[in-house]
Amino acid sequence: MQEVRVAIIGMGIGRYNGRALAATPRTRIVALCDLVPERMEEFAQELPNPVRYYTDYIQVCNDPEVDAVFVGTPNQLHVPVALEAIRQGKHVLVTKPLAESVQSARTLVDAAEASGLVAMMSLSTRFADDVQYLGALARAGDFGEMYYGRARSVRRHGIPAWNLGFILPGGGAFRDMGVHVLDSAWWLLGMPQPVSVLGVAGAKFGPRGRGYLPGAVQPPETLGTLYTVDDYAGGLIRFDNGAALQVESFWASHQPSELQIELFGTEAGARLKPLMIYRTVQGVDQDAAVNIALDNAKTWRTIAGHFVECILDGVPCQAPVRHGLIVQEMMEALLASAATGREVRLDEMRQVS
Ligand SMILES: NC(=O)c1ccc[n+]([C@@H]2O[C@H](COP(=O)([O-])OP(=O)(O)OC[C@H]3O[C@@H](n4cnc5c(N)ncnc54)[C@H](O)[C@@H]3O)[C@@H](O)[C@H]2O)c1
Repeated sequence: MQEVRVAIIGMGIGRYNGRALAATPRTRIVALCDLVPERMEEFAQELPNPVRYYTDYIQVCNDPEVDAVFVGTPNQLHVPVALEAIRQGKHVLVTKPLAESVQSARTLVDAAEASGLVAMMSLSTRFADDVQYLGALARAGDFGEMYYGRARSVRRHGIPAWNLGFILPGGGAFRDMGVHVLDSAWWLLGMPQPVSVLGVAGAKFGPRGRGYLPGAVQPPETLGTLYTVDDYAGGLIRFDNGAALQVESFWASHQPSELQIELFGTEAGARLKPLMIYRTVQGVDQDAAVNIALDNAKTWRTIAGHFVECILDGVPCQAPVRHGLIVQEMMEALLASAATGREVRLDEMRQVS
């Protein structure tokens, strides 16, 4: 294969991934799929070549002129769409979270790994330059043993309501935004195996019609009655190497908005925003500020470029869907712990689900 012919499914976040894929060498967007034709027509105007339109994801997955599919539908449709693509022999790039449940995430990962196709997560926080820089330091051993992490994603008024997938089962704040800092912090800690999770979660704003993103589509009045998911979650994840990660996400709160990851190592520590490295050298504390200009469009291009090099050059995938499954297990264990009031052991959860 000389060139990857890509279909974009879902014209929300799909436009960001689509722009990056269109700008990637050896890549062409050949088809778009969405329930709303106007969204496809509008996005198609940005593309350098004509594309085919589909409103049925089964049909686009069956298009023989498509090699790879980006999945950007609401959470509850990630696995049905990605599974259909894999069944039809297409490589897949899936937005976060991988799925709406552990069971469906596992079904997808099993199918993807059996297929030999590239099945990658599109992770805009993990692939950002600041997180990648910390990852390079961590892999080089600069932090020594990494034994603790804190990760939080807090919004003051940030409940999305432009599609119901966000607030129906399988949605919620933790799967929507907690997933980013959880994935990145877990990756920075070296992806240790999670053993158990203790969590709390609830909904203090959404059901009362409060906390929605200002300026965005405002919720219908009936939304409060449909609201079945968390708008906050927090907890502690223990890993098999003795490390632990404290994680929190709030779609809405009476707190300043913040996205933060803090790393504790035996030789150095770090904070993501603003990016700082803390060490003690010759008995003297060193607080080093690291200046990395962040560029969201570049992050999407990094993801797109890696997806294409995995397909065309056989480069090992840095963010396979198996990572998405392990993150999903941690998320679902935390939400299950919140529901039952008990610590959830991952090995026990795997036996029943
Ligand atoms: N930084 C990120 O990685 C990031 C950011 C935003 C959203 N997301 C993820 O993207 C997903 C979608 O969120 P969004 O904000 O783009 O929502 P959105 O509503 O803007 O876009 C989703 C699109 O999917 C289309 N769609 C729904 N059902 C479909 C179907 N059966 N077939 C084809 N198209 C269908 C909708 O018409 C809509 O245009 C969510 O899972 C969300 O978590 C990721």
